[in-house]
Amino acid sequence: MTRHSRIAGTGSYLPPKRVTNADLAQQLAARGLETSDTWIVERTGIRARHFAEPDVPSSDLALHAARQALESAGRKASEIDLIIVATSTPDMVFPSTATILQNKLGVAGCPAFDVQAVCSGFVYALTVADSLIRTGTAKCALVIGAEVFSRILDFDDRTTCVLFGDGAGAVVLEASETPGILATDLHADGKHVEILCVPGGVSGGKVHGNPLLRMDGQAVFKLAVGVLEEAARATLAKAGKTEADIDWLIPHQANIRIMMGTARKLKMSQDKVIVTVDEHGNTSAASIPLALDVAVRTGKVKKGDTLMLEGVGGGFTWGAVLLDF
Ligand code: ACO
Repeated sequence: MTRHSRIAGTGSYLPPKRVTNADLAQQLAARGLETSDTWIVERTGIRARHFAEPDVPSSDLALHAARQALESAGRKASEIDLIIVATSTPDMVFPSTATILQNKLGVAGCPAFDVQAVCSGFVYALTVADSLIRTGTAKCALVIGAEVFSRILDFDDRTTCVLFGDGAGAVVLEASETPGILATDLHADGKHVEILCVPGGVSGGKVHGNPLLRMDGQAVFKLAVGVLEEAARATLAKAGKTEADIDWLIPHQANIRIMMGTARKLKMSQDKVIVTVDEHGNTSAASIPLALDVAVRTGKVKKGDTLMLEGVGGGFTWGAVLLDF
């Protein structure tokens, strides 16, 4: 009998501090920079984002999301036999945030590791977990995206610091006789490293280079819409499905114009796109599982719906996962 994987539960967490565009405009004004709610909303669709307090690491956000996902799946942490955390803002250089989370969950023994694919991290992590479940290595996986991007923002660069936020989203992915995940499609092209990166690194006890996010927004924008369409079409073809079979498109929540541009290219109605970018900003690897959990809890996404999850981010990396929820 073919073994499949299926999402059994979802969870998410946003740190309590909500920062509106007006709050941010005020902060930037103190640095001599001008921005406005109108500019940010028109260009990105973002109205607010959440920032974690300085002493709250990604693993804490992940812990809240993980506990909620376990509860919704009706599982105990001790039943988890694989933990994957997608993050570009890990607690430490090493060990992985996944092992730190494992300890915070009060369990030990199962494999735990991080996936680093920036904003595509969750679709990468979900694809890895699906593969490990289908080959029989794991039965019940916790797959999480968790980020504290506020730590790597340059608040002297108004073109980037208004775009990102902090948060975490999680799913429990279980072995199943019927397919949940129908097809996946992952890609990367390292020649685009420079258009979106945090170029700094640690060496000899010091940070070398700029440890803050740098982005060529227009170059990212142009690449993103094209690769998201390609990944969606490739994933549908692998599953023998068409755009008409998709109930909900859950794209990486980077920018409303990129998201709606992708929907248009796929000839999908804008009503079928799950949007949380307005309240979350871009939470990188956390954005897709956060949007999924919000859509489930608000009753939009229902059992049996067909979902297209799509990620794109630094690297450049991109990919998609088509699944029956
Ligand atoms: N407030 C006010 N004005 C601003 C701001 C701001 N926060 N930022 C830039 N501007 C100004 C610029 O200085 C420029 O002024 P000028 O014309 O006097 O030179 C003007 O606004 C237009 O700037 P552009 O960069 O041309 O604006 P654009 O329409 O390209 O929007 C944006 C910028 C929002 C960054 C857009 O390019 C974008 O969304 N790109 C994709 C970014 C993205 O999604 N990244 C993440 C994807 S991958 C990942 O998630 C890691």
